[in-house]
Formats: sequence, C-alpha cells, structure tokens
Amino acid sequence: MGEKFNGLDVLGEEYFADPHAYHARLREQRAATEVVLPRGSRAWLVTRYEEARAALADPRFKKHYEGFPRVMELSQTRPVEAGVFAESLTRHMLNVDPPDHTRLRKLVTKAFTARRVEQLRPRVQEITDRLLDEAGEAAGRGPLDLVDALAFPLPITVICEMLDVPMEAREDFRAWSNVLVGGSEPADIEAAGKAMAGYLFELVEHKRATPGEDFFSALVHASEDGDRLDQGELIAMAFLLLVAGHETTVNLIANGVFHLLRHPEQLAALRDDRSLLPGAVEEFLRYESPVNQATFRYTTEDVELGDVVIPADSLVLVSLLAGNRDSAKFPDADRFDITRPTGGHLAFGHGLHFCLGAPLARLEGEIAVGALLERFDVTPAERLDALPWRPGTLIRGLVSLPVNLTPR
Ligand code: HEM
Repeated sequence: MGEKFNGLDVLGEEYFADPHAYHARLREQRAATEVVLPRGSRAWLVTRYEEARAALADPRFKKHYEGFPRVMELSQTRPVEAGVFAESLTRHMLNVDPPDHTRLRKLVTKAFTARRVEQLRPRVQEITDRLLDEAGEAAGRGPLDLVDALAFPLPITVICEMLDVPMEAREDFRAWSNVLVGGSEPADIEAAGKAMAGYLFELVEHKRATPGEDFFSALVHASEDGDRLDQGELIAMAFLLLVAGHETTVNLIANGVFHLLRHPEQLAALRDDRSLLPGAVEEFLRYESPVNQATFRYTTEDVELGDVVIPADSLVLVSLLAGNRDSAKFPDADRFDITRPTGGHLAFGHGLHFCLGAPLARLEGEIAVGALLERFDVTPAERLDALPWRPGTLIRGLVSLPVNLTPR
C-alpha cells in the first residue's frame, strides 16, 4: 500500500490526499515508522498519542544536535524541512535545548502570560470587528475567502502590533512565511529566508536606535539576570514569533470554521450556547491540529519508544495531527464533537517547548469564531470536501475557505 522507497513509506500523493487515513494506517502498525519525507530525507514519524507525548517530554529527543550533519548524511539529502536557510533565523528557542532554551524562553515568557494576553482582549475584539465590518461589505458582492478576510489578518495584525512591525511588511511576510513552511523548492526557501533575515536585521537596528513602547523594543534592550540577546538571537526570536503568528492561529480559525460548516448541527448548537465556545476551540485544535509535523527532534542514542527502538542519529517527527486522532486517548477520535473532553491534546506540543503563544491563540480563536457566528449566518460557497489543503507536512491548514456571509 502506498508509495515505497527502499521499503520505506514515502509521504507523497497518498499522504497528502488524506493524512489522517495515512496516519491511522501507520498508527495501527507501530508507535513510530521510518518514512521518507517529500524531499527525500528519512525520518521517524510518531503517530500514537502516548508515544508522541512521551517523546516530547523526553530529553533524549533533542532539538539541537551536533551530530546533525551526520543525520543529513544518513538521509542523503538536505532535510530542508528542518529549515536550513539563512543561518541566523534558526537560532531561536524552539530549535535549542537547555540551558540556551531556558535563557531565551525566560526573556519572553512575561509578555505571553495568560494575564498579559487577557489585557489584549479589547484590542483583539476591535481588530476582529473591523475585519468583519469589511467582510460584511464584501459579502454583499458575493462569496469571500474567510482565510483572507479573517483567519489570516487577525493573528498577523495582533503579532505585528505586539512587535511593532509596520503593517506594510505584512504581505511580504506572508509570502516569505508561506515559502518557508510550505514544502517549497530549496532555492526558494533559501531566498525567502535571506529576505526575511535582511528585513529583521533592519528592524532590530531600527529598534535599537529608536526604541518604542512595544515589547520587542524592550527585548532589544532587555537584560534578564544580566543577560542579553545578541543580534542573531534577536533576529531569530522575531522570526519565530512572526512565523508562529502567521502559520498557526490562521489554521485554528479556518480549520475550526471548516469543520463547523461540515457539522451544521454543531454550528447551530454553538450559536445557541456561547458557553460551548472555549470547548469548541479545544476540539478544533485537537481534531484538525494546525501543527502537524513541525516538531523536529534528534536522537543522540538509541531510544525505545513503545514497540520500536529509534536508533541514534535519527530525525524524529512527532505528528501532533496524528497523536490527537488516536482513539486510545480520545475515544472515536475521528468524530468531531465540540462537547467532548479534549484534555491533554497535543496541538500546542508538550514539555519544555510547550507553545508560548497558547493563551494568545486561544483568545484569538474564541474571539474570531464567536464574533463571526454572532454577526453572520455562514454557509459554504464551494464543496467543502474539494477544498485544497496547503502543501507540506509541517502544518495543517486550508489554502482558502470560500463562504457566503449573511448578516444576522
Ligand atoms: C511552540 C503550536 C500559536 C509562539 C509551539 C509548539 C507547538 C505550537 C506545537 C511546540 C513545537 C515543538 O515542541 O517542537 C501552536 C499552535 C498555535 C500557536 C497550534 C495556534 C493555534 C502561537 C502564537 C505564538 C506562538 C500565536 C506567538 C506569537 C510559540 C513559541 C514557541 C511555540 C515562541 C516555542 C516555545 C519553546 O520553544 O519553548 N507552538 N502555536 N505560538 N509557539 Fe506556538
């Protein structure tokens, strides 16, 4: 079944046609399977919940690894999915282990606590209302793409405001960011990485010369326990936050609305009872997790994981999309149900690298979907099962979500 290379599963057309079915097949066989990624790298793909969670919490699965070139050699091609582009962009907290990770994360934790994020609520609501005003006007002229109208601009506007990045740069960022995570050609990834690094370099210089009130300016000047971020670390931090702001919450919102449209009875229930909203957002996260395999780890020794031994020097991808569909953890996991218990889902990862932006993502998701349903009747403008998903194995999101909006 499926495409094979040297006896290994290849994540190719069959995978992209239905990653959930593909994951289910692998999950049934064993906890982790050695596969060939779309660009030819070899990796171990973890598809079961228990083992995914265990791997994310296990320090033997490292983020950064001196033996990394050996992994590349073993895989015989450059694992471009690992982001081998402009060197400086990769030195962010998501790519390093303690003690560097501890130091970098500590510097930004304060800006993302639940309390600080809650203070952003009125502003997030305001931005959402403005976007929905515009969407309402456009909807009078025909169907519109909910990704373009709401799911994309909301999170990116919020993170650009937090970092005080000029909004004019937004479309450039969208294009670069799309290339970086979208399974593009290596040369394009390299070019986009360079362009983005160049832009961020200028931004850091600007903040250094003329600091503003924003938290990024504070970071440029920060010293925590006498510690400072060097130029490369600052650029990488801005990169991480901006990419996280671009590539994830957009999918939470669009994937969530997509599944509500596929389940009109649940959409109606949510409309009738707004107290279901927080639980619904958690089910969106579990059921169609925005991050699929953007969870790189490396083994420096042989590690037993469930019923397999992953050899030293392996690239390991923990699929959050797959783990969250494991019925051993979430009974009848392929059933979308906004009222089900979702505790322990892995959409934000687990362990040391647990998503820093989770409170912000939840806030944005709740406000966006809540306001959309309050103001409009939403119906699909095209066949839902024919809508294209974005290419690549890193993230899981729709290219577009054409809808008709009728003011209520
Ligand atoms: C880390 C998911 C939104 C900032 C992560 C990880 C996941 C994740 C799975 C861990 C990856 C790993 O362990 O390899 C998500 C999802 C989001 C979201 C599903 C939206 C629905 C955001 C937002 C921000 C953000 C809005 C901030 C603007 C970060 C940062 C890390 C991270 C800084 C690295 C944390 C660390 O290494 O300690 N995210 N994220 N995320 N996320 Fe998010």
